[in-house]
Amino acid sequence: MKIAVAEGDGIGKEVVPPCTEILDLLLKDAEFINVDIGYAKSIREGLPITEDDIDLIGQADCMLFGAVTSVPGHSVVMKLRKAFDLFVNLRPVRSYFLTQYRLNLTIIRENLEGLYSGIEEIFEDIAVTKRVITRSNAERLATFACGLADAKTITIVHKANVLKSDVFFRDVCAHILQKHGITYNEMYIDAAAYQLVKHPEKFDYILTSNLYGDILSDEAAALTGSLGLCPSANIGPNFAIFEPVHGSAPHIAGKGIANPVGAILSCKMLLEWIGEYEKAVLLDTAVKKAIQEGYTTPDLGGGNSTKEVVRQIIYGLEG
Ligand code: NAI
Ligand code: MG
Repeated sequence: MKIAVAEGDGIGKEVVPPCTEILDLLLKDAEFINVDIGYAKSIREGLPITEDDIDLIGQADCMLFGAVTSVPGHSVVMKLRKAFDLFVNLRPVRSYFLTQYRLNLTIIRENLEGLYSGIEEIFEDIAVTKRVITRSNAERLATFACGLADAKTITIVHKANVLKSDVFFRDVCAHILQKHGITYNEMYIDAAAYQLVKHPEKFDYILTSNLYGDILSDEAAALTGSLGLCPSANIGPNFAIFEPVHGSAPHIAGKGIANPVGAILSCKMLLEWIGEYEKAVLLDTAVKKAIQEGYTTPDLGGGNSTKEVVRQIIYGLEG
C-alpha cells in the first residue's frame, strides 16, 4: 500500500507525523512517499505545488494531507481535487460529549464545481463567478451518497427557491435517491444553517453543493467543540485524499498543542477506503477512549499536548 504523505505547513507538520506512525503500526505493508507542497515551498521555488508533485502523488494508492497556508491565486487543495477527479468531499462530524450538542452526521459535499468552478472574472465595475452544476457530476455524487446511506435519511440542502442551478442540483439528486429507494428530505441552505444549531441531532447525511458544504461543515465542527476534531476524505473514482478539515493554524504552529484528532480520524477514513474496516474500528475506539479519559488539547479546554494525546491513542491501539 503506497500512501503519498504531504505535511504541508503550520500544524500540518505536527498532526501528520503521528498519522504515519499510526498507519505504520496498523498496516504492515504501508510505504510512505513524502511530498513537499505548500506555502514554504512556494517561497523557495515559486509554486506551492508542481506537475512533478502531482505525478509523484499519482504513483501512490491514496494520499494523506495535513494543511497548507494559502498562496493567493494557487489553491493546492483545488488543484489536487481536479487532478485526481475527487468529486466527493465526505465530512463526518461527531460530538464526543464535549459540548451540549449531540451530532452524528456526515456532510457529503460536491467537491469540483458549484461556485468553485473557477469560471470567474473581475471587470472594472463588476465581478462574476459562474456557478456550475453538471448532471453527470450531481448524478455520481448522489449515487455515491446512496452507497453510504443504509437506513438513514439524506437531507438535500439547496436554495432552489432562488437559484435555478439549485433546482437542477436538487432534481438530479432527488431522482437518483428515489431510484435507489433512499429516504430523503430537502431543506433550504439558510434553514439548514439554523436547524444545524437548533437540532443537530436530527441530521444523518447532508447532501449538498460545494460552497454550502464548506460552510455547513465548519458550522457543524464548531458545535463539536473544535475544528481540530474533524476529519475529511476527498474521494474520486480511483484515488482519494484524506485530510483534517482544519487549515495550517499558523498562530498555534510550533507550540505542540495542535489537536491531532481530525488528522488521525482522517486515517480512520483512509483505512475504511482501503477496506481495512476492523482496523478502522480499532482506531476509532482508541480515539474515543482517549477523549473520554480526558486527553484533550487546549482548543477543547484540555491541558494536554499533541504528543500526549497521540501517545494515549497509540496506547489504546496497543492495549
Ligand atoms: P484554521 O483551520 O487554520 O484555523 C481556524 C481556527 O481553528 C484557529 O483558531 C485555529 O487555531 C483553530 N484550529 C484549527 N485546527 C486546529 C487544531 N488541529 N488544533 C487546535 N486548534 C485548531 O483556519 P484559518 O485560520 O482560517 O486558516 C489558516 C491558514 O490555513 C490559511 O492560510 C488558510 O487559507 C489555510 N487553510 C488551509 C486548508 C487546507 O489546507 N485544507 C483548510 C482551511 C484553511
Ligand atoms: Mg473550509
